[in-house]
Amino acid sequence: MPEIPLNNLKARREKLANLMPVNSAALILSAQQTHRNSDVEHKFRQNSSFWYLTGFNEPESAFLIIKTEKETLNYIFVRPKEKEKEIWTGYRSGPAGASQISGIEKSFLFSELKPQLEKLLGGLQHIYFDFGSENYATLGIEILELIRQKRIYQITSTQNLLAELRLFKENWEVEQIKIATQIAAKAHNLARQACQVDLYEYYLEGLIEGFFRQNNCNWAYPSIVAAGQNATILHYVENNSILKDKDLILIDAGCEYNYYAADITRTFPINGKFTIAQKEIYDLVLKAELEAIEESKIKNTTFEKVHEKAVLVLSTGLKDLKLLDGSLDEIIEEKKYRKFYMHRTGHWLGLDVHDIGSYLDKDGKSTVLKAGMLMTIEPGLYFDPQDESINEAFRGIGIRIEDDILITEIGSQNLTELAIK
Ligand code: GLY
Ligand code: MN
Ligand code: MN
Repeated sequence: MPEIPLNNLKARREKLANLMPVNSAALILSAQQTHRNSDVEHKFRQNSSFWYLTGFNEPESAFLIIKTEKETLNYIFVRPKEKEKEIWTGYRSGPAGASQISGIEKSFLFSELKPQLEKLLGGLQHIYFDFGSENYATLGIEILELIRQKRIYQITSTQNLLAELRLFKENWEVEQIKIATQIAAKAHNLARQACQVDLYEYYLEGLIEGFFRQNNCNWAYPSIVAAGQNATILHYVENNSILKDKDLILIDAGCEYNYYAADITRTFPINGKFTIAQKEIYDLVLKAELEAIEESKIKNTTFEKVHEKAVLVLSTGLKDLKLLDGSLDEIIEEKKYRKFYMHRTGHWLGLDVHDIGSYLDKDGKSTVLKAGMLMTIEPGLYFDPQDESINEAFRGIGIRIEDDILITEIGSQNLTELAIK
C-alpha cells in the first residue's frame, strides 16, 4: 500500500491536538488480527482512525498523544521484531521502523504500553479512549482501571475528535478515493456487460471482486448481487440465486483502495429490457437521485436537505403511480413513503464505508455541506413480493442507484459517474 505522506500525518496529529483541551490524552489501539477458523486468519484490516493518525499497518499497536500546558507529545507502541515470527507471518517493522513510517519519534514495544501509561498519565484530567471496543477487551479493562487509579475522571470516546478531522478529506485522500471509485465503477460496467439470463449471482460477484483484486483493491464491504426479489432485502449477501429473464438485478459493490472506500449501486434489467412497471420505478429512483445530487451542489445546503429532496421526488412519484394514498404533505409528514423507502439517502464515505462524521452540528441542526466532505447519494424503492395492497406488476421490484459525491468549493462532483446508469 502507498504510505501516507509524513506531512499529512503530522498535520492530522496537530489538528487532533488542537481539538484537545490542555492536560488531556488520547489513546487509540490498532485493529487486532482475528481468527476465522482453526488456524486460518481473516485478512488484516487496520483500524481506520489508528491508520489515519499513524499510517502504521500492523496489529498489536497503539497511538498515544498527550497535551499539556508545556507541550504535545506523540507515542507509538508496536510489536517487536522477532525473526522466528516473521518467518511465519511476515515482516514486522519494530519500534524503529514504526518511527520511520509514522514520523513519531517516541516508539516503544506494545508490551510497554501499560507501564508507560502508568508513568505518563499522572496529572491529566481528561482522556479520550474507546475502552468498549471488542478488540483488546481485557487490555481495555486494565487500561480503564489504570485511568481510574490516576484519578482521571473525564473519559470520552475518541469518535467525536476523529469525526471532525476525517469528515474533511485532504487532496491526497481525494486522490486515493478517486482511484477506488474509478476501479469500482469499471467493475460495475464489467458486470453489466457480462450479465445474462441463467448466470448465477455469484458469477457476477466473482467478476466484480476479481477485478478489485486485479487492481490492488479489496472489497470495502461484502458485495450485494441481488436478482429479482432478492433486491428487496436491503442487506442480501447470499448471492446464490439464478438470474431470471424479465427480472432486474441490483448490484451494490465497492472496493477499498489504500483503505479508502467506494460505494456504488446500480440496478438494471437482466435481459437488457425493462418491463413497464420496472421502467416507471427505475425512472423515479433515477430522478430522485439526480435531483438529490443537484441539491448537493447548492452552496450551504445540508445533509438533511439532500435527503428531503429525494423523499419529495419519490413521494410525488409514488402518489402519481397510485402506490400511496393521501396528499403529498400527508405522505411526507406521516412518513408513509417509508413503506417503500425505508433507509436514508446517504452517509459519509471515506476510510470506512459508513465513515465517521457528525450528521448534526453543535446546535443540533443538520450538517452544512462543505468542500472536502464526501457522501453517498443512494435513493431506492423496494416493493415486498407479498404485498397484496399494490398492483402485482410492482411486487418484488427492488431498485437503488448510488453514487459517491465529493462536495467542492463550487458545488459537488460525482466520482462514480463512469458506472453506467
Ligand atoms: N453498501 C453499503 C451502503 O450502501 O450503505
Ligand atoms: Mn452506501
Ligand atoms: Mn452501497
